Amino acid sequence: MTQYLLSIDQGTTSSRAILFTLEGRIHAVEQQEFEQIYPDSGWVEHDPEAIWESVKATCQALLDNSGVDTSQIAGVGITNQRETTVLWDRQTGKPVYNAIVWQDRRTAGFCQQLKADGHEPEVTGRSGLIIDPYFSATKIRWILDNVEGVRERAERGELAFGTIDTFLLWRFTEGRSFLTDATNASRTMLFNIHEQRWDPQLLKLFGVPEALLPEVRDCASDFGTIAGGLPAAGATIGGVAGDQQAALFGQTCFAEGTAKSTYGTGCFLILNTGERALKSEHRLLTTVGYRLNGKTTYALEGSIFIAGAAIQWLRDGLSLIRMADECEMLAEQTPVDHGVYLVPAFTGLGAPHWDPKARGAMFGLTRDTGIKEIVTAGLQSVCYQTKDLQKAMEDDGERPVALRVDGGMVVNNWVLQFLADILGATVDRPEVIETTALGAAFLAGLHAGVYQGLDDIKQLWRCERRFEPTMSKVDRDRLYDGWLEAVRRLQAN
Ligand code: G3P
Repeated sequence: MTQYLLSIDQGTTSSRAILFTLEGRIHAVEQQEFEQIYPDSGWVEHDPEAIWESVKATCQALLDNSGVDTSQIAGVGITNQRETTVLWDRQTGKPVYNAIVWQDRRTAGFCQQLKADGHEPEVTGRSGLIIDPYFSATKIRWILDNVEGVRERAERGELAFGTIDTFLLWRFTEGRSFLTDATNASRTMLFNIHEQRWDPQLLKLFGVPEALLPEVRDCASDFGTIAGGLPAAGATIGGVAGDQQAALFGQTCFAEGTAKSTYGTGCFLILNTGERALKSEHRLLTTVGYRLNGKTTYALEGSIFIAGAAIQWLRDGLSLIRMADECEMLAEQTPVDHGVYLVPAFTGLGAPHWDPKARGAMFGLTRDTGIKEIVTAGLQSVCYQTKDLQKAMEDDGERPVALRVDGGMVVNNWVLQFLADILGATVDRPEVIETTALGAAFLAGLHAGVYQGLDDIKQLWRCERRFEPTMSKVDRDRLYDGWLEAVRRLQAN
């Protein structure tokens, strides 16, 4: 009987369930979007029940429509939008507040205060992160301080905190598993990445009771068995990783110096730094790449908040295009040096600027600027932001040997050619661009013994197309200088 790996990819705007063959090919996919809730300027929430319903529905539809039986599932992997914070009641499993999403900026003032009080070096030293509303710690603190009765209940041990992986594990096992993995833990700003444990100093600083926190496991571990009555009941969840780390794993970036960049809602460039928890001097994050058999592989990460979301905005916000794939055609008709720069700082600027108060802007508009130029500027903004990250990594003395790309946006050949040109580097697109889900499937397969080790998995990565840079250095520098000038002007405002 043919065996499959089931991967659940709970992302920022949609939940997906994918069945992979053991050779790492997609057999079947289901996807469902869910509501984004914007209660105030800069606030972003999700209803955890809507997330859970979408996950259950996609898994059920996947099994029904593919005709695959649970007995054919060798293992289940979960990967998720990281940092997004849920607190729930341990008795009832009911959330005490909506999930506060990673993009949410409501704690910017508190973060600024912590920095002004001189806490950043200590926080960075322990967690590898920069103080920013992006991470879970200040979101937990906000719920504890603002939802009535929650702090007391948390201190009495009645509540649980989790990133989305933990919440899903709890639901899939009906409360038997209260677990997370080292990659998700490393995004909370409460985890000591060097000692691989929740850090008492950080818990104290953020006022988070330890009783709220899940146990942290390796990425390929026994995370529990799916309870009866749920889709894939009886199957073992054997792999968990935050989505960007799962993509690193799915791209088989196992060697030090290899890197991937994923273009989803945001863009996240991660470089494998091996056993070294390299401290960035250029405001990149030090994070856990993956942890297997108790051994941590570290990574350097550059996080950009808006990538695919800029294209969504051109489509849904401005109605400049009807479908995302129109962008490629419009860009092909536009010279790359049209002079318009769109800086999509809709939710502030991430790495390397870390400016939560910045907001988006467009520069260089003239009387003959049209839809083509604005759309092309949107696509280019994603590439320029990747260049910012590449530059920060190089300034830290790390140059990725090649860049593997994935995520929905990389179907756009124009974007990848411009990316290769502006980076002055080779860009590789794999056959499977659902690399996040693939990474979680690989982890589950590793736990299930489908793969004996990383060498088995490495052989399954296949390049579909390589993009080589063709632009001259003079042109590249001129275009990129224009971008830097646009960012400078935006921040000066
Ligand atoms: O850190 C946030 C990241 O995990 C979100 O990823 O793919 O949902 O944009 P994505």
